[in-house]
Amino acid sequence: MKFNPFPELESNRLFLRKIIESDCKEILFLRSDITVNKFIERPENRKTKNLFDDIKFIKELDEYIETNKSIAWGITLKEDPQIVGTICLWNFSEDNKTAEVGYDLNPKFQRKGIMNEALKMIIEFGFTKLNLNLIEAFTHNQNKSSKRLLEKNGFQFMDNRKDLENKSNSIFELRNTSS
Ligand SMILES: CC(C)(COP(=O)(O)OP(=O)(O)OC[C@H]1O[C@@H](n2cnc3c(N)ncnc32)[C@H](O)[C@@H]1OP(=O)(O)O)[C@@H](O)C(=O)NCCC(=O)NCCS
Repeated sequence: MKFNPFPELESNRLFLRKIIESDCKEILFLRSDITVNKFIERPENRKTKNLFDDIKFIKELDEYIETNKSIAWGITLKEDPQIVGTICLWNFSEDNKTAEVGYDLNPKFQRKGIMNEALKMIIEFGFTKLNLNLIEAFTHNQNKSSKRLLEKNGFQFMDNRKDLENKSNSIFELRNTSS
């Protein structure tokens, strides 16, 4: 599993690239805006409240990429390098066959099919380049947009699985049928 060189991805409208320190304003917005974070729960020590926390977070992302622990992409529209959202694969299992997907998008860009386009690329990358067997997603059971996005991309709601750390979460799974 190697994230170096960083795997930039591209689709019709989008370019997915590495998140760098100069993206700090956009990342701080995504991690602290009330609307974006309505359904996202983070422990106190994982919250991004100011630029200091934010730069620390971006440095951690770098470290995770270097050590192949997890990978996050900044989502940009092809005509503008500014980040409008992020998508990541993290929480890899020990055998690197399962990973969790996470995403967020600036509300100005929501409901235009952007995350749908980004998620498709990440699924393809996860299954064909990382040879994952399974991609999981944990999402608040009232997070309609996230649940719809997952279902639209073939993820199945796992009624029999419970998130013991957050009872409001629903767990979704997408299996790699060609593995
Ligand atoms: C979840 C999120 C990334 C979806 O991104 P998006 O680009 O707006 O989603 P898309 O436009 O690709 O839409 C995907 C599907 O969800 C539906 N959808 C989007 N927003 C919706 C909403 N508020 N209510 C109901 N359905 C919604 C779309 O209509 C589409 O389904 P359709 O093709 O059947 O119409 C975005 O809402 C977001 O960033 N939310 C805040 C962060 C978050 O909750 N992240 C998830 C943490 S687990």
